[in-house]
Amino acid sequence: MELGLKFGTNANIMQIDDEDDAGEDGLSSTASISSSILEYRRLQGRTYHSDKFASTYFLPNDQQQMDSIDMSHHYLTILLNGRLYLAPLEQNKTLRVLDVGTGTGIWAIEFADQFPDAEVTGTDISPCQPRWAPPNVRFEIDDATANWTWGSENFDFIHIRYLFGAIRDWNALFQEAYRCCRPGGWVQSGECDVEFRSDDGTTELEPVLKTYKDLFQEGGKAMNVSFFVQELQQKAFDEAGFVEQKSARYKIPIGGWPKDPQLAEIGRVVRATLENDLEGYTLFMWQDVLKRPRDEYAVWLSSLRKAIRNPKVHSYMVVHYVYGRKPE
Ligand SMILES: C[S@@+](CC[C@H](N)C(=O)[O-])C[C@H]1O[C@@H](n2cnc3c(N)ncnc32)[C@H](O)[C@@H]1O
Repeated sequence: MELGLKFGTNANIMQIDDEDDAGEDGLSSTASISSSILEYRRLQGRTYHSDKFASTYFLPNDQQQMDSIDMSHHYLTILLNGRLYLAPLEQNKTLRVLDVGTGTGIWAIEFADQFPDAEVTGTDISPCQPRWAPPNVRFEIDDATANWTWGSENFDFIHIRYLFGAIRDWNALFQEAYRCCRPGGWVQSGECDVEFRSDDGTTELEPVLKTYKDLFQEGGKAMNVSFFVQELQQKAFDEAGFVEQKSARYKIPIGGWPKDPQLAEIGRVVRATLENDLEGYTLFMWQDVLKRPRDEYAVWLSSLRKAIRNPKVHSYMVVHYVYGRKPE
């Protein structure tokens, strides 16, 4: 069966593997690590970043969520055919690279391994990066929503990925990225929409899937931050002044339902990523932000888990990448 929805120039048509149905189920941004940054907030056994920062972020920073971050990195790398970036970087040059909101630092570490001469800095509001890292990587505590402390024209490449739900002002984010990028350097951004979609209507078999989107829509309003950022991302990127822009929209399947083996592999990892920490993705929104009834949470979570495993549902989410160059 062919699903014919195309996105821009990057046609991403997914065919369903019918056989699969049978079986599978402050003001300045940089801070040294002071003890207040290590004072994590706690919610039902999960830990979240310290409230030292002006911004509030919805994902936990504990091992369970970090595993999901690493799994996301894995499927995104398969999605880009093994590449860590799309921008046409100069290979024979010592690159100064910034990875904003680096999470576990997995992208920064792999980039540093691939470019041993590069100097890579990963920043985050949670000090959850490993102590061991290649010698050309360093991690810093940095709130990307505050004014960046980096000097202007400091980096050859700035990489920003999966900050949906973290950024109120996307214009300000890309303005800072533009300022800190050297003329001729590149900035790349990749974001996912947290909505289960299908082209054959099969998401309607599991109405709970829509309530996942509703949770982030309502929660986002209450937090004054968007979880559906792809238009904002593109507009802010345009307005910052980048040239030679390219953008690409990809469907990432949830589950191994596509016929195409690469997409099926991506789908299996996407589903495993979600299943690994459905609680981490939703607990803060449900309980802290929207204050929904606690006793309904476990039931909702288990019906969501069941829906994600339903092999008759051919769902996917959309990832949007954009990259561009600062004019010389
Ligand atoms: C979903 S993870 C993505 C991690 C990494 N970019 C990746 O794609 O593998 C989002 C990360 O952004 C960080 N973050 C959230 N708000 C931030 C902010 N205001 N400044 C810097 N990092 C932030 C979180 O702590 C988390 O580690």
